[in-house]
Amino acid sequence: MTVPTACVIGWPIRHSRSPVIHRYWLRSLGIQGDYVAKAVEPEWIDAFLRDFAGSGLVGGNVTVPYKEAAFAAVAECEAVARALKAVNTLWLEGGKLFGGNTDAHGFLANLDERAPAWSSAGGRAVVLGAGGAARAVVWALAQRGFDIVVVNRTRDRAEALVNVAPRIEVDDWRSLSGRLKDAALLVNTTSLGMTGQPTLAIDLRPLPETAVVNDLVYAPLETGLLAQARARDLVVVDGLGMLLHQAVPGFERWFGDRPTVTAELRDLVAADIEGR
Ligand code: ATR
Repeated sequence: MTVPTACVIGWPIRHSRSPVIHRYWLRSLGIQGDYVAKAVEPEWIDAFLRDFAGSGLVGGNVTVPYKEAAFAAVAECEAVARALKAVNTLWLEGGKLFGGNTDAHGFLANLDERAPAWSSAGGRAVVLGAGGAARAVVWALAQRGFDIVVVNRTRDRAEALVNVAPRIEVDDWRSLSGRLKDAALLVNTTSLGMTGQPTLAIDLRPLPETAVVNDLVYAPLETGLLAQARARDLVVVDGLGMLLHQAVPGFERWFGDRPTVTAELRDLVAADIEGR
């Protein structure tokens, strides 16, 4: 008898930590099930999604570069996925493929857990970057009532985010220090600071001493941005928790139990990141 099996699809997929996360929950909750990584080549993604209901899988996660393709392929999707035009979680209902997006949930749950007071005063959030991750972040921040400034190397991509939610402005890198002066939150959604990528050159001195700094980069866990913020005694939140929390709703859909993001899971995934 085969056990209920979910997957993560992407190209490449070797970097994905999702199997470590979901297998930990399957083990710790004593659920008979499995979670596998599937590298799907670009020429096969449309067929893979079209035939998902016949694959024997109960559902799955979708990662780079297929979140938009998954959005286009699902029969039905949640409002948040529609707003983000991207699907990162798939499941089946009545033989039909459904899609959701848990990135915004993961972003908020991580901040709620690691910096519980982060959104209580509201105010302005400065978001660096304008890719898919920024889209989810901007949408999530709007849900919490923040005014948002998006700063991105390519201004056109930032402009494309203004219709995701109300009260979003776009500004240039050269205006950043002025924007930081009254920021309640700074979020890095760019790949700068990631292992193997250029560093994020930014001066955090203008930030108020009450500001929270969140980096979505989680490899390394302590990025240059977070080290600089910590040196200033600001509240810092790393990106690992977003990865862990975004996984929760999918697991619950496929396997029935809502899992918990434990310190043990965090340590397990952190060791995996540091070991590679
Ligand atoms: P994701 O879906 O993870 O957000 P993405 O869509 O590739 O990934 O977005 C990457 C982000 O990092 C973008 O905001 C990108 O800026 P551009 O829109 O100008 O490309 C930003 N980024 C990547 N490398 C960068 C660099 N060397 N300097 C400045 N920004 C960079």
